[in-house]
Amino acid sequence: MASAFSYNSFGFLLILVAFSSLINISSAGRQIAPKTSIEFIRTSCSSTTYPKLCYESLLTQASMIQTSPQLIAHAALNVTLSTAKSTSALMVKLAKSQGLKPTEVGAMQDCVEELEDTIDELRKSISEMGQLKGSNFGLMINDIQTWVSAALTDENTCADGFGGKNMNGSVKTAVRSKIVTIAHLTSNALALVNSYASFHG
Ligand SMILES: *[C@@H]1O[C@H](CO)[C@@H](O)[C@H](O)[C@H]1NC(C)=O
Ligand SMILES: *[C@@H]1O[C@H](CO)[C@@H](O)[C@H](O)[C@H]1NC(C)=O
Repeated sequence: MASAFSYNSFGFLLILVAFSSLINISSAGRQIAPKTSIEFIRTSCSSTTYPKLCYESLLTQASMIQTSPQLIAHAALNVTLSTAKSTSALMVKLAKSQGLKPTEVGAMQDCVEELEDTIDELRKSISEMGQLKGSNFGLMINDIQTWVSAALTDENTCADGFGGKNMNGSVKTAVRSKIVTIAHLTSNALALVNSYASFHG
């Protein structure tokens, strides 16, 4: 009876030790990799230049992103691409609207071309992002970094075209803020790609 009792208390003790070490593991794990996707997105976004925009634009992708540095970079590129596409479509429409001065039409058309380049660069980046493999990782992530940086340059050129005095106030307001948003989304995506690259390499 006495030996059965001590055996049981020993078993109980073992379970207790195992349980408390489980708790330690999970709380240590939380500090390294955030437990939920939303925490992960918040933490990852905090190292970007526009953390609020980053967090808000990626929140709806949380179930896709999980807690993966690769998937968050991929999702940020996806969100940037879809915003660039809808803005480009809007500008094509605006460029045809009545009452624009020739200089405005010109700036609009230049911008549409720059946005098309941006879209192309983001598409290439997204496709490469889905094919990252061990041996070619360094080269591929380098391509992505180059393309996303080029996209950012194109967007800034476009935004600058709308900054000058050749622009009508209403056109300026409608278009410029959208371009600036795309540039901020791109900057954030680049930061997430860079941090994935350094995390991986
Ligand atoms: C990004 O977009 C592609 C194509 O629409 C999709 O297949 C992929 O799942 C998306 N990835 C993330 C992480 O959102
Ligand atoms: C600005 O553009 C609108 C139409 O887009 C036009 O009605 C307006 O006259 C223009 N204003 C100036 C100052 O050119």
